Amino acid sequence: MKTYRFGIIGAGLMGREFASAAARWCHLTDLDARPELVAVCDMNPALFPWYTGHFPSVRQTTTAYQELLANPAVEAVYVAVPHNLHQQVYCDVLAADKHLMGEKPFGIDLPACEAIIAATRQRPDQLVRCSSESPFFPALQQLCGYIEQGAFGRLIEVNTGFLHSSDLDQDKPINWKRRIEFNGEYGVMGDLGMHACHVVFRAGWQPRNVRALLSDIVKERPDGQGGRAPCKTWDNATLLCETLDPRTSEPFPWTLKLQRIAPGQKNNWYVEVLGTQLSARWSSVQADVLEVMEYHPGVPQAWQQIQTGYDTAFKTITGGIFQFGFTDSIQQMWAAYLHELAHGQPKKPFAGCVTPDEALLSHQLFTAALESQRRAATVALATDIAS
Ligand SMILES: NC(=O)c1ccc[n+]([C@@H]2O[C@H](COP(=O)([O-])OP(=O)(O)OC[C@H]3O[C@@H](n4cnc5c(N)ncnc54)[C@H](O)[C@@H]3O)[C@@H](O)[C@H]2O)c1
Repeated sequence: MKTYRFGIIGAGLMGREFASAAARWCHLTDLDARPELVAVCDMNPALFPWYTGHFPSVRQTTTAYQELLANPAVEAVYVAVPHNLHQQVYCDVLAADKHLMGEKPFGIDLPACEAIIAATRQRPDQLVRCSSESPFFPALQQLCGYIEQGAFGRLIEVNTGFLHSSDLDQDKPINWKRRIEFNGEYGVMGDLGMHACHVVFRAGWQPRNVRALLSDIVKERPDGQGGRAPCKTWDNATLLCETLDPRTSEPFPWTLKLQRIAPGQKNNWYVEVLGTQLSARWSSVQADVLEVMEYHPGVPQAWQQIQTGYDTAFKTITGGIFQFGFTDSIQQMWAAYLHELAHGQPKKPFAGCVTPDEALLSHQLFTAALESQRRAATVALATDIAS
């Protein structure tokens, strides 16, 4: 078992999710690499006792991330900080010769992402990936298997999305994710968009142009100190993209919905692929269920529901009949990162983390979407998908 010593920069919500996934690494049975958490950095030292209390392996806590990067014991770094810091911190991690797992959106805007990509290209020996966990749900893995097999036939249409509703509460105090200076002009696209792009980009489906409708529904929020603060980020986004399937050289419509204000929705990812031979759809509302419809001429068209259980990309101690959840998807994503660290390539195409080129493509899409909204027009993407 190869051990990779990790540091975390940004020890908040997602930093703890990684630490917790690492703490139960014994859950995974067929992996020959594991993370060991040795260093934690956050501006808020009140977060440190949770880490030091649960992880005797943590020998460094610091409020200055450069100190963590100067620690020779740290081989790889997970960075989960606000979007305005991605470019600087990711580039500094690479300059310090460490492997990097970054968070989406991988830079606050397109120039920031391009700067990260340029730094990545100078460091081909370091593994650089971007976090996105939803494809690791077993039902979605199964749907992705159909993509790999070319089972859908000609694509009729693809719909993906990520829906939240917590921002329906107009009295919810503003936080950095609703402030344009920390979250960026993309708003909800920067926050939720990568999740809805991962499967599409990994499939090699190439968005050519986009017509976007962006909504700013809640324009101010409590500032947490008795006053009100402007909330300038986009709350909801609907993107309609003309998209090319290189397998058939035929275009199809791909619609992404990214919503912070989707009444009734808690934290729901969905993917729907409709094809001439096969259609399949999955939503995390019923995460265990994959709906499938095979088309056979003359045979009645009927959707089947398959309960996929715990049939994961990386095998675990959990019996195959049990249900799979969010924290499992986080651990599977980390298993994919560790597998790639140890073996230099993903276990299979859809059991791989988002690459820097895929992150760049998401920026090209969201930047075109902003222009589409401004001009009320369809906008071509700046470049094709990076190969
Ligand atoms: N993959 C996912 O499902 C998912 C979910 C939520 C958030 N995210 C992403 O993770 C990242 C972090 O989001 P979060 O929800 O964990 O936010 P968070 O606010 O809970 O945590 C961010 C942490 O960064 C710290 N921080 C800020 N500036 C810092 C600095 N200069 N040095 C060190 N620490 C600093 C803050 O004190 C905070 O503890 C964002 O990029 C976000 O988009 C991903």
